[in-house]
Amino acid sequence: MEENIFDNLLTRPSLFINKEVMRHSHSPTELPHRDREIKAIRFNLVEALKGQIPSNMILYGVTGAGKTAVIRFINAQLEDKGKQIGKPVNPVHVNCRTIDTQYRVLAFLGNSLLESYEKEDIPFTGWPTDRVFDELVNRMNRRGGVHVIVLDEIDHLVKKAGDDLLYNLCNINDDLKRLGQARCCVIGISNDLKFTEYLDPRVKSRLGQEDVIFSPYDAGQLSDILEKRAKEGIKSGVLGDGVVQLCSALAAQEHGDARRALDLIRVSTEKAEQSGEDVVEVQHVRMAQNQIECDQITPVIKTLPPQQKLVLFSVLLNERNGLSNIATGEVYEIYRQACKHYGTNNLTQRRITDLLSNLDMLGLINSKTVSRGRYGRSKEINSCMPISIDATELMINADESLNSVEKGKYRFQSRL
Ligand SMILES: Nc1ncnc2c1ncn2[C@@H]1O[C@H](COP(=O)(O)OP(=O)(O)OP(=O)(O)O)[C@@H](O)[C@H]1O
Ligand SMILES: [Mg+2]
Repeated sequence: MEENIFDNLLTRPSLFINKEVMRHSHSPTELPHRDREIKAIRFNLVEALKGQIPSNMILYGVTGAGKTAVIRFINAQLEDKGKQIGKPVNPVHVNCRTIDTQYRVLAFLGNSLLESYEKEDIPFTGWPTDRVFDELVNRMNRRGGVHVIVLDEIDHLVKKAGDDLLYNLCNINDDLKRLGQARCCVIGISNDLKFTEYLDPRVKSRLGQEDVIFSPYDAGQLSDILEKRAKEGIKSGVLGDGVVQLCSALAAQEHGDARRALDLIRVSTEKAEQSGEDVVEVQHVRMAQNQIECDQITPVIKTLPPQQKLVLFSVLLNERNGLSNIATGEVYEIYRQACKHYGTNNLTQRRITDLLSNLDMLGLINSKTVSRGRYGRSKEINSCMPISIDATELMINADESLNSVEKGKYRFQSRL
């Protein structure tokens, strides 16, 4: 048979037992170090199995603290138990990062209450919101039981669309009681502790009847989580000494993000696999870390407006020339040259100062104000690793609104 480029990849044994288990999308049924949180939520939601209305809740915690995983696990158990004992509970999980208007959430909830053979019938847009709401209430009533509505990443919705939806959902039991036996509770999930500041006090007190705070995992806890997942996902003996510990320590350094820890261990294992090795070593974790960081930053830079890209580029170019702690004026100098090079008009230095704070907010650069005694205060700007200047330049060149007039390598001068 003719040789095929995939041949030896296919015959090489994988280091994974089941890679899916190592992805974020997998829903684990064992969640170490979340006992306290699970207990608090369970204690409230058990009311649904008694036919009572559980309190509305808000779950808070940093990203990767297991909020989504915990509520999905609890709701699956709740639904099962309800079926078993003839007390139907209908949990619905709404991701408000993607479903982010009042209309769309209501339509999503309404369509989730159809029987499996029925077609989604509330249109994506077009009905008056009141009609969608009435339809939802009718369907909830028809289905009966207790509806548990989880609004995940609720802070996005509130910041984008205000709190009308929450007001309506928090009062929905009044409508349901008029119609029949169905009841409803709302669980909001947020990684912004202060998001309730955006809420009307009436909504705030109704939604936040009970708060559960998910504390960030520490390195030891992340190790336990990784070990448990790796037992199912990665062949035994594959993870070399210190690999789990390093992945956990790196993820704990940021903010105890289990998602980051999982990415690190999965990508490290892929790296070892790609280089044809049987054991994942610390060096593979380092490679994984670089790749993950680059993957995260690239889309952010890609979507920056053209002028922002040029400002970022100017910071990087200064650094490439060996300069650190660059002042705004120095960035501006290079930026002006870059504009000339790309045949675009330059903005004023004041605007560049704004754009620099924007880049700072996005975490692409670090700018701190330092006092220079009698010379007043000034900014010291540094890029945040690991943005590569080459990648940034490629993205600038790919930006159609920036047409380089001189082709070839740039020839800017920095800090004369
Ligand atoms: N205790 C745990 N045991 C096993 N896996 C966990 C645990 N906590 C979190 N994970 C896993 O880590 C990943 C991130 O968790 P999850 O999505 O629940 O975080 P989150 O708190 O919802 O974060 P975000 O605020 O960013 O949505 C998921 O893949 C989840 O399965
Ligand atoms: Mg989540």
